[in-house]
Amino acid sequence: MVKNKTYQTYHQIFKDQPLPAAFVDMDLLDENIHAILKRAGSKKMRIASKSIRCRYIMEYILASNTSFEGVMCYSAGEAAWLAEEGFDNLLIGYPSMNKVELGLVADQVKLGKRIYPMIDDLDQAVLLNKIGEEKGIVFKTCIDIDMSTDFPGIHFGVYRSPLHTLTDVKKLVEKLKSLPHISISGVMGYEAQTAGTADRQPGEGLKNAVIKILKKRSNKDYTERRKEIVSWLTQEGYVLEIVNAGGTGSIESSSSEPWVTEVTVGSGFYSPGLFDHYSGFKHLPAMGFVLQIVRVPRNRYFTCSGGGYIASGKTGALKQPYPYLPEGIKPIKYEGFGEVQTPFVYDGNIPLKIGDPVLFRHAKAGELCEHFNYLSVLKKDNISAFTTTYRGDGKSFL
Ligand SMILES: Cc1ncc(COP(=O)(O)O)c(C=O)c1O
Repeated sequence: MVKNKTYQTYHQIFKDQPLPAAFVDMDLLDENIHAILKRAGSKKMRIASKSIRCRYIMEYILASNTSFEGVMCYSAGEAAWLAEEGFDNLLIGYPSMNKVELGLVADQVKLGKRIYPMIDDLDQAVLLNKIGEEKGIVFKTCIDIDMSTDFPGIHFGVYRSPLHTLTDVKKLVEKLKSLPHISISGVMGYEAQTAGTADRQPGEGLKNAVIKILKKRSNKDYTERRKEIVSWLTQEGYVLEIVNAGGTGSIESSSSEPWVTEVTVGSGFYSPGLFDHYSGFKHLPAMGFVLQIVRVPRNRYFTCSGGGYIASGKTGALKQPYPYLPEGIKPIKYEGFGEVQTPFVYDGNIPLKIGDPVLFRHAKAGELCEHFNYLSVLKKDNISAFTTTYRGDGKSFL
């Protein structure tokens, strides 16, 4: 079993490299793949590309085990591009109203690729139907169901799909019957409140306890709705090629639903900062970035170039990079992570100096790739290759 690695190991690897650099440690990634396979049991898994954003790593995970099948893309343009690049079985995880990109998807469908656009409203379906008619294809669509739960005073979950109940689904399905260039071929429900909400945050004992209770109650609610919707669609004669659920934080519970055919997983592979504090699992920090100390403003203070890689979502300290190695490096409260320079304090025993590498982790999994053209691919404590990120491929989708 590979454990987290030491500062000395990464110092040796990066001391003569041009910095800043982003890396994936394949020894740790392999461990994470193994742990994720164990968590999912026999359930198939689809890779969330937004949490990877590097073709090489997605290909690597897909080739590692037959339980990994297909990709959940985050834009139609991305799906068309991945199809061109040889990927297949692409679920577009979010609705698109981008005619140009959907046209490119249609071209790939025509060439035989399996690509499923997401819908939750008649408007998206009408556009797909029109493009399908023009291009002479039938789009296999997937319907997105809202998995949030409203408790008194708390909306537990995210605001995405308007389709909450079976009645909502029935109404939409009825309207879709007049659109011959789309079929209903899948159902997706993303239980963000379970999959993406940490429930073992340090110093948050009460909040953690409340989140665990809410997760449990919400699970009962959305599990029943998902089952009911899937069984109604099946009774109505729809052939569901996909019943997709979950994410990294809900692998076990999503996999346990017999009517779910596949679980989406992305963040668990790199395991970024925001995934450090879940009660059910702990993956290894397989991705990070390396900054270089370029000046020493005073004793114990060190300033690096770069570093301002802040994660999206509600802003706050949790969205900043996570100090990693050497252990004990701390950002400066009133300065944080700068776009050009980042200072930190270090009281430890390692004699840091100008030119030395220091390591941080991003809060989220894929976004770091938007800042770097290449990832250093580390194997057995050496750089075995450099591989392009989406950005390095000249692609920026959203
Ligand atoms: C629709 C959908 N499914 C699944 C996921 C889970 O991805 P991850 O495993 O990276 O948390 C996400 C992430 O936001 C998502 O938006």
